[in-house]
Amino acid sequence: MRKKIVAGNWKMNNTLEEGIVLAGQINDLVEKTELNGVDVVIGTPFIHLTEVNKLVGDKIGVAAQNCADEVSGAYTGEVSAAMIKSTGSKYVILGHSERREYYGETSEKLVKKVALSLQNGLTPIFCFGEVLEERQSEKHFDVVKSQIAEGLFHLSPEDFGKIVLAYEPVWAIGTGVTASSAQAQEMHAFIRKTLVAKYGQEVADNTSILYGGSCKPSNAKELFENADVDGGLIGGASLNAEDFMGIITAF
Ligand code: G3H
Repeated sequence: MRKKIVAGNWKMNNTLEEGIVLAGQINDLVEKTELNGVDVVIGTPFIHLTEVNKLVGDKIGVAAQNCADEVSGAYTGEVSAAMIKSTGSKYVILGHSERREYYGETSEKLVKKVALSLQNGLTPIFCFGEVLEERQSEKHFDVVKSQIAEGLFHLSPEDFGKIVLAYEPVWAIGTGVTASSAQAQEMHAFIRKTLVAKYGQEVADNTSILYGGSCKPSNAKELFENADVDGGLIGGASLNAEDFMGIITAF
């Protein structure tokens, strides 16, 4: 079901104490705000999940930022999809470019992570996007199509319908350089067209496609006004409750 979604990704920021304060501030603002049908998600480090889930009300869903590619067992340092689910979390961010670049997140691993997330009733927020050289050499459409196809196109239409997509041009992440509204719409329309070819119009029309990359209160409205942009995956600006609310209310 296509929804408007604003999801924060705290990345590796905030001690438990700081995270509880920030989640409380966001929750207070969300509780007293008319959200106009926007689903709000907070993506916290693993250690925050249980406490943040206890603290927030029904208007906020909590996301992990990764999950293991195995069910359980001798995988030191890993956190399984079932463990994430047991904290009360509803979402899991998968395939973020930082994980692809720094932690060897391959499409093969992502296929397993997506499967385990779905088996455990978590909604994957599946990220993909090109690096600067790929855009400059006009390979960005091919790169995006490959990342989506390799990670997700083995899914049945029913399972694909449970996925949220997040286009994050790597050159725009944390750089202050946002894709222009036109660049975002152009890519999101391409993604939807790719989904039509694979799954048909209905599935494509029902898929939420978020934009991520230096999204902030000052540019969110222009990005979200695009027909194929269904919301945002927000890094830096999600670490400040008022900025994050500024983006949520940009719809
Ligand atoms: O997951 C979020 C994205 O990587 C965007 O991060 O808003 O700090 O550019 P950013």
